[in-house]
Amino acid sequence: MATTPGNFIARHHHITIATGDAQQCYDFHTKVLGMKSVKKTAFYDGAVPIYHLYYGNDNGDESSLVTTFPVAHTGVKGRKGSGQIGYVSLSIPPAALDYWRERLRSHGFTVRDNERFGEQYLDFQHPSGVDYSLVAVADDPRTPHTKGPVPAELMIRGTHSIAVSMRDAEMMEEFMQVGWGGTRVASDRHYIRYQLGHGGSGTYIDFEVDAARKPGSWIVGEGTVHHMAFQIGNHAEQNQLKAYLEGIGYTDVSDVKDRGYFDSIYVRTPSGAMFEATVTHSDGFMCDEPRERLGLEVMVSPNLAMSKGELLAQLGYLKD
Ligand SMILES: [Fe+2]
Repeated sequence: MATTPGNFIARHHHITIATGDAQQCYDFHTKVLGMKSVKKTAFYDGAVPIYHLYYGNDNGDESSLVTTFPVAHTGVKGRKGSGQIGYVSLSIPPAALDYWRERLRSHGFTVRDNERFGEQYLDFQHPSGVDYSLVAVADDPRTPHTKGPVPAELMIRGTHSIAVSMRDAEMMEEFMQVGWGGTRVASDRHYIRYQLGHGGSGTYIDFEVDAARKPGSWIVGEGTVHHMAFQIGNHAEQNQLKAYLEGIGYTDVSDVKDRGYFDSIYVRTPSGAMFEATVTHSDGFMCDEPRERLGLEVMVSPNLAMSKGELLAQLGYLKD
């Protein structure tokens, strides 16, 4: 494998999903999936305030993170389709499959057993309609949330894979292999799997190829995945990746954006899905609240031209 700045990308960092009602989204992740609220803040872009809610493990480690924009108050609905990340899968221990099937059903969710790439999946949907899966992964070394409603030995370990829906596999092959440091490692029916770095859960990018599927929306619209973020080691590597991608022709790379807890660049990939390469700040989620208070209070992003009281008045309080 040639060494390019694409190879600086190690694994997933977070996935970001546009959902509907904030309290419903919060309860789904913290009470049903048992994830920790790692940070409650507001979206850094746009004129209308939107919560940005982060869920993950005890410390909010990279690749444990699911983040959401609950946008019911904006009225913007997403449209599922190609050119978009179709579903996110989260890693659980194989011994936890039965527990999770029953847990989700007891909370009223429809669960379907599936198999992809020889792995066992439980497919279900977020209340806003976003497709989620739990997938059985043996020996995932990542630390789960240890103080939630789900026993730690059965708990989600982090993101396993994303599945990008696209119409033509060749559109992404060059980007993945030359640009993003991916290695094609498997195919299964109309699915193709790439891995990053050393591979394993938390490094996979799957593609679901369907030439007939109409394009989905890119807007921050309820019921759709917005983008996937990947961890890159440091700012020098991030700058090299941006220059490299632009140099080989992928000129649609954003400037570095300070997201409060990490710095990110974004690129609209040839598949249509948006990828982000992000460097965590040295103090990460602990920059504005101590470890033992993570995710309890709403942290107002400094770029937002309103007080915390105004923000809460507009978006409503979130009940734990
Ligand atoms: Fe992001």
